[in-house]
Amino acid sequence: MAEIYPGLETIDKTHDESRQGEALSIAEPETKKSNGKFLYVESYGCAMNFSDSEIIASIMVTEGFSVTKNHNEADVLLINTCSIREKAEDKIRLRISELKSVKKKKPDALIGIMGCMAERLKTQLLDEEKMVDLVVGPDAYRELPALVKSAEDGTKAINVLLSREETYADINPVRLNSNGIVAFISIMRGCDNMCSFCVVPFTRGRERSRDAESIVREAEDLFNNGYREVTLLGQNVDSYKWKSPTLTLPQGEGEATSEEVVTFANLLEMVANVNPLLRVRFSTSHPKDITDDVLYTIKKHHNICKYIHLPVQSGSSRVLELMNRTYNREWYKSKVDSIRKILPDCTISADIISGFCTETEEEHQETLSMMEYVRYSMAYMFTYSERPGTLAARTLKDDVPELIKSRRLQEIVDLQHVHQAEDNKSEPGKVYEVLVEGTSKRSKEQLFGRNSQNKVLIFPKGNLKPGDYANVKVISATSATLIGEVI
Ligand code: SAH
Ligand code: SF4
Ligand code: F3S
Repeated sequence: MAEIYPGLETIDKTHDESRQGEALSIAEPETKKSNGKFLYVESYGCAMNFSDSEIIASIMVTEGFSVTKNHNEADVLLINTCSIREKAEDKIRLRISELKSVKKKKPDALIGIMGCMAERLKTQLLDEEKMVDLVVGPDAYRELPALVKSAEDGTKAINVLLSREETYADINPVRLNSNGIVAFISIMRGCDNMCSFCVVPFTRGRERSRDAESIVREAEDLFNNGYREVTLLGQNVDSYKWKSPTLTLPQGEGEATSEEVVTFANLLEMVANVNPLLRVRFSTSHPKDITDDVLYTIKKHHNICKYIHLPVQSGSSRVLELMNRTYNREWYKSKVDSIRKILPDCTISADIISGFCTETEEEHQETLSMMEYVRYSMAYMFTYSERPGTLAARTLKDDVPELIKSRRLQEIVDLQHVHQAEDNKSEPGKVYEVLVEGTSKRSKEQLFGRNSQNKVLIFPKGNLKPGDYANVKVISATSATLIGEVI
């Protein structure tokens, strides 16, 4: 997903991973009566977790808290955690011990663990981390104010109940760390796929879709507030499904009678129709679920970005079966063929895991040859990390030695670099419509933005400002960034 993985293995340094572990910036609370207390939130993991932090902040701001960037002045410090790989958890534990130092100076400050580690480890976290006061799972954020109250009264508080219904549809997120141009919108929660390596179904619970009308309203509000791009988020967006009693779908094929099902293709179209100047992205697509309907909807709307994150995980059919991904090599290739046919100018990116249980050298070669076949524009690449409780941990042996996993990963990373560098060689001379997002880190005189294909472009400022669209001609390229001039 527009992912912010904690994986050190990630090679795309320009991507959102720069946000990992970032403190959330100050957002103006919405005219709520202040309780004089400060909230500090730090987020790890995927975009959904960052989006959840905006819901957490909204719930706490409603209670009168003000959001601060400075953990030293906080009364409540919340760490929104990720369990996806062991390394992610290790890194967060280290950070928890650092943040505990705040309590030395300010003994009344509360430390809370939110998100996937809270859900996975439950009371174990309270036992292990003596200075942690709150443990709250992803479906229990509405209870935060009550749990904070209880912790303030000296009782450690925990709520890790998962829900089949909670989508926080009515909560207006407080946009944190925002550039005011691009925003995430959660469209669903949980995951019903049981990929054998993955902890997400355990930490996030059953899949449920959010009310489509509330999603469209959120997109409209964002647009009216100057935002120009939304990314629709879910672990598996293509299985989005919401039953509306009243809605008429945008293709206008008759009035809704009793009840109409909104599919992901319908939802994409509804959001694209908010305004042609609002770009729409989405993440993550599962190869088994993405339909031609979705591809034709992307084709139909100029403002739906021509970029699909399509995690492959492995290029070997045998490994994919062990991973319980429910597609094989041929199926994945045929999806890529459909994308290439229907959307010739679409880029594709992926997640790839090296060294899954019993993976042979030949099967690793199949992953490399899949990369050759697709030529991903970007990839998140990881070594397999066994997660307790998953199907793989229970039934398969994590038998590829770490050194071999790392060597295979390096080969994958190197090949990805070669592909990006080679493919970007054909970029100079091309002209793209770019949404200006902000000032480049390199120079105040340069702006940066992305094209529809999600490639980052850097170009001189001129009279442009964030939120504008510009036609930029590429003049040179590195493997990760395109340098251009406005025409
Ligand atoms: N829902 C998304 C993925 C969410 S997790 C999807 O299905 O595409 C993000 C990525 O982390 C996965 O795609 C996978 O590549 C990686 N990942 C998940 N569990 C992992 C594990 N146990 N070890 C290594 N990588 C893992
Ligand atoms: Fe995990 Fe698979 Fe669900 Fe993605 S689709 S979150 S990898 S179980
Ligand atoms: Fe996301 Fe990590 Fe949880 S990837 S869903 S925060 S385990």
